[in-house]
Amino acid sequence: MQVKEGSYYIQNQKVTDLAARFGTPLYVYDGEKIIRQIQQLQEAFAGIDLKIKYACKALTSISVLKLMRKHGVELDVVSPQELQIGLRAGYTGSQINFTPSGVNFEEIEFAVENGAFVNLDNLDVLEKFGQKYGSSKPCMIRIKPNVAAGGNAKIMTAHEGSKFGIDIRQQAEILALVEKYDLKIVGLHQHTGSDVKEASAFIEAASRIFEFAMAFPDLQCIDLGGGFKVAYKEGDYTTDMESFGKELSAFFLQFCERYGRKLQLWFEPGKYLVSECGYLLVQANVVKQAPGRTFVGVDSGLNHLIRPMMYDAYHHIVNASNPDDSVQETYDVVGYICETDNFALGRTLNQVTAGDILVLLNAGAYGFAMSSQYNSRFRPAEVLIVNGEAHLIRQRETMEDILRNQVEIDV
Ligand code: LLP
Repeated sequence: MQVKEGSYYIQNQKVTDLAARFGTPLYVYDGEKIIRQIQQLQEAFAGIDLKIKYACKALTSISVLKLMRKHGVELDVVSPQELQIGLRAGYTGSQINFTPSGVNFEEIEFAVENGAFVNLDNLDVLEKFGQKYGSSKPCMIRIKPNVAAGGNAKIMTAHEGSKFGIDIRQQAEILALVEKYDLKIVGLHQHTGSDVKEASAFIEAASRIFEFAMAFPDLQCIDLGGGFKVAYKEGDYTTDMESFGKELSAFFLQFCERYGRKLQLWFEPGKYLVSECGYLLVQANVVKQAPGRTFVGVDSGLNHLIRPMMYDAYHHIVNASNPDDSVQETYDVVGYICETDNFALGRTLNQVTAGDILVLLNAGAYGFAMSSQYNSRFRPAEVLIVNGEAHLIRQRETMEDILRNQVEIDV
């Protein structure tokens, strides 16, 4: 978002015009930013055979998936529903990786039937997979490397206490099943967590999985998951893709040499691709003065963006209706849900008047995707800006959506 001639713009679109045209609350995604992120990742790993599998749980809107597909990005899905959205967006099954956790075997069968690669994360399922498919279907295994990293405990996935993956110490059990059923393990996967600060954590996890990989002769890829850190506020630590790419590429090539063959390196970023492209536009309904504090109550809440409440996440806020920073005040920006739903406490903003359009930044990843109908409110509309045009890609919900599937009985 930039200021031009006293107004805020996303690409060439004036933010307040978008709010007037499509209404609020509104999710807006800058397609150019998504493309830039894809290119940055590709450039950082230019020296190796890289495949990007977008973790589409972050933002599952079909038009965003189509944009990814157009730019050579494949998919990582975690449910049969995400898989079907991927197919609908034009992906073939073979471009989709299914990385579920603790699901019913029928979901695995569904993925296989649709041609997706499955990533198995427990020994029982590996056994069932062997019984049903033997060597006829290649598969991947998710390993838990026992590395603790991630923005907070709720989004760490590779530490010893985590439910995800098969513990790296259970290699003998895995190999016994591989031998028993002649399993064709074509990929090994690990995902460290989200908001991973230290590039060293990726390197540590990679070194463990590379070591582990030496016992699997049929590999085609190593999948190091997602978790790259983006900046949520000024001065925030971010994964420096350029230097990280250089370091990890060299390490990976070294491993390939030891392994005896060149493999593909896969990543499954969610936030890195879509966090910064996303803006949640809301309207200030009320400005409430109280002794010692001023609340700004907006027409949204934890039903639309749960990250501040769920992870104490910081989302930068800008008053798009008032670019004049000569008068600023400190506000508690709160939602309209009937429980505490603070977006920000004690936040300094350009003076807010009821009716102003506020913008929450970095709302692309796990924003709309985690939204709900709590308090029986509609989920927001979504707009994607591509080639300088703002396209409505999801309509705001209506009362029909709220009532859909309810079965009324007379009692
Ligand atoms: N791969 C796997 C297997 C994952 O479980 C995830 C995210 C990703 C890739 C992508 O991670 P990312 O690059 O987006 O960090 N709702 C939380 C984040 C949950 C992440 C879940 N798994 C949040 O809003 O911070």
